[in-house]
Amino acid sequence: MGMTAVYPGTFDPITNGHLDIISRGARLFDRVIVAILKNPEKEPLFPLGERMDILREVVGRLPNVRVEAFDGLLVDYARASGARAIVRGLRALSDFEYEYQMALMNRRLGPDIETVYMMPGEAYTYVSSRLVKEVARLGGDVSGLVPREVADRLRARCAPPRSG
Ligand code: PNS
Repeated sequence: MGMTAVYPGTFDPITNGHLDIISRGARLFDRVIVAILKNPEKEPLFPLGERMDILREVVGRLPNVRVEAFDGLLVDYARASGARAIVRGLRALSDFEYEYQMALMNRRLGPDIETVYMMPGEAYTYVSSRLVKEVARLGGDVSGLVPREVADRLRARCAPPRSG
């Protein structure tokens, strides 16, 4: 049967740090489901459909990874998908408090599901979707921080309006 893990997130947009965790997860687990949250509280830059398209493009070379969207409780979604593990990336101490709360809440809600933390490669420890969007919006170079598919889309979306 093998072990399935869910890797949940907002992925607005996916960064090379996320991709690094997905690759590590795909080596450790038999199957990884990248699960995009359907209703984040914040207005996303990329609509859900586009985030799914991007994710599918960038994980296409990993045969045991699939991309889905979910809403409701993560542990319910994980259980319904046959997953016994939730994978999350941990970059720095600043991530810890939020992740610790979430892991313990998920354990309370679903004691049968275990949360597994992985550290991304050190080159990605400072990379976040929020900062990548800010840099792109202000005209900075985000290549190397996000997959090419994302950099192209960010450039198109954040291009300054043409004058004249
Ligand atoms: O990429 P993010 O924004 O850090 O991901 C957050 C996510 C999607 C993992 C989290 O918001 C989530 O699991 N939402 C689903 C609702 C839920 O189960 N909440 C209770 C657990 S804390």
